[in-house]
Amino acid sequence: MGTLEQLGLALTTPVRRRLEMLRRDLSMVGGRVVLGRRAPVLVDRSHAGARAWAHTIPRRPVRVTRVVHETDEASSFYLEEMDGSPIEFEAGQFLTFSVEVDGVTLRRAYSLASPQLPDEPRHVTVKRMPEGRVSHYLNDHCAEGTILHVLGPSGNFLLPPLSGRPRHAVFIAGGSGITPVMSLLGTVLATEPASRVTLIYGNRRREDIIFAAQLAALRERYGDRLRVDHVLNAPPRGWTGGEGLLDPPTLQQRFDALGLFGDTGPSDEEDVEVYLCGPSPMMQAAHEALRARAVPAASIREERFTQPEARTEARVYSTTPQPMSVQIRGLHADTVVKPGQTLLEAGLEGGIGLPFSCAMGGCGTCKVKLREGEVEMDEPNCLSAAEREAGYVLTCVGHATGPCVIEVER
Ligand code: FES
Repeated sequence: MGTLEQLGLALTTPVRRRLEMLRRDLSMVGGRVVLGRRAPVLVDRSHAGARAWAHTIPRRPVRVTRVVHETDEASSFYLEEMDGSPIEFEAGQFLTFSVEVDGVTLRRAYSLASPQLPDEPRHVTVKRMPEGRVSHYLNDHCAEGTILHVLGPSGNFLLPPLSGRPRHAVFIAGGSGITPVMSLLGTVLATEPASRVTLIYGNRRREDIIFAAQLAALRERYGDRLRVDHVLNAPPRGWTGGEGLLDPPTLQQRFDALGLFGDTGPSDEEDVEVYLCGPSPMMQAAHEALRARAVPAASIREERFTQPEARTEARVYSTTPQPMSVQIRGLHADTVVKPGQTLLEAGLEGGIGLPFSCAMGGCGTCKVKLREGEVEMDEPNCLSAAEREAGYVLTCVGHATGPCVIEVER
């Protein structure tokens, strides 16, 4: 593994930069160097004056083909690749959007909400979040024809392969946590005729329910294969559905009302799988309620909301450049992490093919072992406590606070 300098080529900076870009593009196409799970061939470099990572983390343009206002606060943005082809993805995955707001480039992840079907138009649905700069920007500025820039798709909130039996997929979602759930449940219903779906979906008011009409249409279409249990915290007069926050008591009540997780033990006829996506308190409550019903942890999947607005965007962890050594399959390369750079940005700028996908701490693709030194990470990110304990770091949100050695294990 050698940079052009290591190969002894004395080149002017512009030529060297173009060659590095070409080399990265070719390595992405050929797959010789791992650069993310679905590395795009097109590399956008239109923001030449933006931060250094804009040169090194390849993002690609996609076109908005339609905007649909789902609620007062949430809109769906239908997207296609620039050549008009559909975005390839797996149900439950998300795209990372790279957006410039007030001169600052921000990255945010939004799940694709469409079922994974060849002819189904792809869309993300973005709810305005309090203080959410990107969610407000997208809702205020996107129209048909707008070009956005994305990475991915990424993410592991996926349907496992069928075991040989149909599945009963139980989804518990809160607010905009419905977006990957819509993709997953729509895919199950459309592609697995013997599987069935139960959705417990919590919102504050009836007007806040995203995809209310689409869920009603799916009920019409699939009948008993889909049960939808809307739970409202502030229900209107005459509401006959579930009431309350999705806390443990309310969830127990809904489980009873739906006949879920009773005393009859595992079914011989279907695999019961539970999928969680919503705000942190709802996720904790769901785990507690499921534990009380002895639902095995192995049958629970979850997508945690990251809260990027809570992240300090411009925090500088070290004011001096820090040397970084990277080990990949017995080879090693050295580079320097500049102040303000992440390990990923420094590695890619140094011509080192570090793996990544979402570039914002949400997917785990960039996980590496920290062999020496200290690295601080932006929070929140998707590393588990056990992974942190074992010395793993995410290069896309990791910053060197001193010389460090990292190892790419896959
Ligand atoms: S690239 Fe997704 S977590 Fe780092």
